[in-house]
Amino acid sequence: MTGIRKAVFPVAGLGTRFLPATKSVAKEMLPLIDRPLIQYAVDEARAAGIDEFIFVTSTGQSVLEAYFGRNSGLERKLKDGGKTNLLNRLRRSNLDDETYNFIQQDSPRGLGHAVSLARDLVGDDPFAVILPDDVIHARRPVLAQMVQNFQGSHMIATEAVPSDRISDYGVVDIAHGTGQVQHLKGLVEKPAADQAPSEFGIVGRYLLHPSIFDQLDGLAPGAGNEIQLTDAIAADIEATGCCGFAFQGERFDCGSVAGYLEATTVFALERAELRDGFKSMLRQRMNLLSAAA
Ligand code: UTP
Repeated sequence: MTGIRKAVFPVAGLGTRFLPATKSVAKEMLPLIDRPLIQYAVDEARAAGIDEFIFVTSTGQSVLEAYFGRNSGLERKLKDGGKTNLLNRLRRSNLDDETYNFIQQDSPRGLGHAVSLARDLVGDDPFAVILPDDVIHARRPVLAQMVQNFQGSHMIATEAVPSDRISDYGVVDIAHGTGQVQHLKGLVEKPAADQAPSEFGIVGRYLLHPSIFDQLDGLAPGAGNEIQLTDAIAADIEATGCCGFAFQGERFDCGSVAGYLEATTVFALERAELRDGFKSMLRQRMNLLSAAA
């Protein structure tokens, strides 16, 4: 492992694709089965050796603090009731107070802006950025795959994207490399499909050299009039270098309703205690649909 100890979780976006739910519920708190999206992200970070968590939020700390903080009253009730399994499950969501911090992004000026706010807390070491709405189903957690291959320059997770959807993504321009690690010569945020430099889109996992903060400093807004992390990495490629990492796993965009639904189905079918009942329910539903067609 490489000594990457800190992860930044930018969760200050508006989450408009999930309105009206996100009017009052933060997107990262939407549950996938029985854990909020942010829990999957934190678990993935822990599996990669991260032990300091920095959340960039829009509303300050209240929701996440309530979630990651200890609920002693509930713990006591479960303990007194002999509900050890539930108690253990509850405790796994606790983070030690000294391991996490909050930063407030007053208005959603873009992912790059959100990351720039973490400069003082990150300091001078390489760090991870995880977007919790990109949930990745993988035998080996993706951030751990990346940390194992990290060599000091920026590294971003990539996946092949169909051409009719490529203009929704940041897209990498590959200099060389055909395996999992590709050396990049450029990045373009949301290119027109016929101008995409490759079929590989950027997914929400990054290992970044702290030189990124100088690039973000004073960076002009880019696509969507937002301060784009992609633009800062692109500007730093010559000085620091950047690799794309074609991870092993399947990624779901849980910031979109369709991706969230698919992830729910896949994760439910993975859970031993849910699988059989869920499968037969799906079968019955499909049969009803076929009969009605
Ligand atoms: P998205 O592109 O999914 O935007 O942000 P969004 O605002 O959350 O959702 P929609 O598009 O309106 O439905 C990707 C990640 O970057 C964070 C978001 O919280 C999400 O985790 N982000 C985005 C910020 O923290 N700040 C920003 O200014 C923008």
